[in-house]
Amino acid sequence: MMMKFSFFVLQAAAALTAVTAASIRRDNSSSSCTSALQSIVTSSDPSFGCLAPSALKEVFALGTSNPSAAEFESTLNNWFTDFCGVGTCTSDTIDKLSATVDTPCGIEFNMTDYTQLRELLCLKDTAANTFCTAETLFSGNDTDTGMSVNTTNSTADPGEILFTILLVSTPFFTPCNECAKAQYQLSVQQGGADTSTLDHCGANFTATLNSTLVGVKQVAVTSEFKANAARALAPTAGLLLLSMAGFVSLV
Ligand SMILES: *[C@@H]1O[C@H](CO)[C@@H](O)[C@H](O)[C@H]1NC(C)=O
Ligand SMILES: *[C@@H]1O[C@H](CO)[C@@H](O)[C@H](O)[C@H]1NC(C)=O
Ligand SMILES: *[C@@H]1O[C@H](CO)[C@@H](O)[C@H](O)[C@H]1NC(C)=O
Ligand SMILES: *[C@@H]1O[C@H](CO)[C@@H](O)[C@H](O)[C@H]1NC(C)=O
Ligand SMILES: *[C@@H]1O[C@H](CO)[C@@H](O)[C@H](O)[C@H]1NC(C)=O
Ligand SMILES: *[C@@H]1O[C@H](CO)[C@@H](O)[C@H](O)[C@H]1NC(C)=O
Ligand SMILES: *[C@@H]1O[C@H](CO)[C@@H](O)[C@H](O)[C@H]1NC(C)=O
Repeated sequence: MMMKFSFFVLQAAAALTAVTAASIRRDNSSSSCTSALQSIVTSSDPSFGCLAPSALKEVFALGTSNPSAAEFESTLNNWFTDFCGVGTCTSDTIDKLSATVDTPCGIEFNMTDYTQLRELLCLKDTAANTFCTAETLFSGNDTDTGMSVNTTNSTADPGEILFTILLVSTPFFTPCNECAKAQYQLSVQQGGADTSTLDHCGANFTATLNSTLVGVKQVAVTSEFKANAARALAPTAGLLLLSMAGFVSLV
């Protein structure tokens, strides 16, 4: 059975214990998957710029760098900021990505998965100025995923790091807050809502799941990523330009 990097399956995986879910991924992680993922973040193909590979490479490096909590959170937020700000990958790019990682990583990844995951990862708590997923990792539930600051060793594998990030971005791990509501509402839009993952929040909370979100926003830019067009980036994206410089100079 192929494991799918899909939002819905991740929700189902989250319904297992975190330990089970993590060990499924751990059993199937392999050096060929690691190589495939590293080849994406170090690729000279400008089209992979839509994944914000420089910042993602730093996220992968967390697995072996024994970061402080603050470094960890800022590294994740940096990737999300770049990834959500550079524009969407084209389906051609996702096909290339899929051709590179699917077999070695034992997954099936397609444009729908990409679009849904991007929306999920780009939910930002603008009040706290932190992406929901990064916030959840530091909410106190991080130990459930073996991703706590003192156990980052256990996630040195890039595939497992990605899997953990995706797992904690589902409502199951999110504290009963506006981020959880945002994730639920996104899930409804994407056709996969399942309130049972939020039952532990109590009836008073689940009754308000459809209420207007306070402070949580979708920050994914909707325009398509243009590998060759640095000028298409917003003037405020100075940091972004720096991280993209490697690609821009190639063309
Ligand atoms: C993991 O790999 C094993 C053996 O290769 C396979 O039987 C199993 O279905 C895989 N699990 C997932 C979730 O891909
Ligand atoms: C992606 O895969 C899902 C699940 O198999 C499928 O429902 C969907 O139609 C696929 N999307 C694309 C764009 O191929
Ligand atoms: C991590 O380890 C340090 C030193 O042992 C300890 O002071 C700190 O409380 C631990 N942090 C967490 C989140 O467990
Ligand atoms: C991290 O890895 C080092 C070296 O392999 C090991 O000595 C240390 O105990 C590990 N720490 C944790 C929290 O697993
Ligand atoms: C952590 O997740 C569990 C399981 O979903 C949930 O019961 C608990 O309320 C969460 N803890 C926090 C601090 O959000
Ligand atoms: C749920 O809301 C009702 C009505 O506002 C209130 O009486 C009750 O105390 C609340 N329950 C909890 C657990 O907060
Ligand atoms: C939220 O709205 C969706 C779509 O209208 C609906 O299917 C769902 O049952 C609602 N959820 C709650 C908890 O009211």
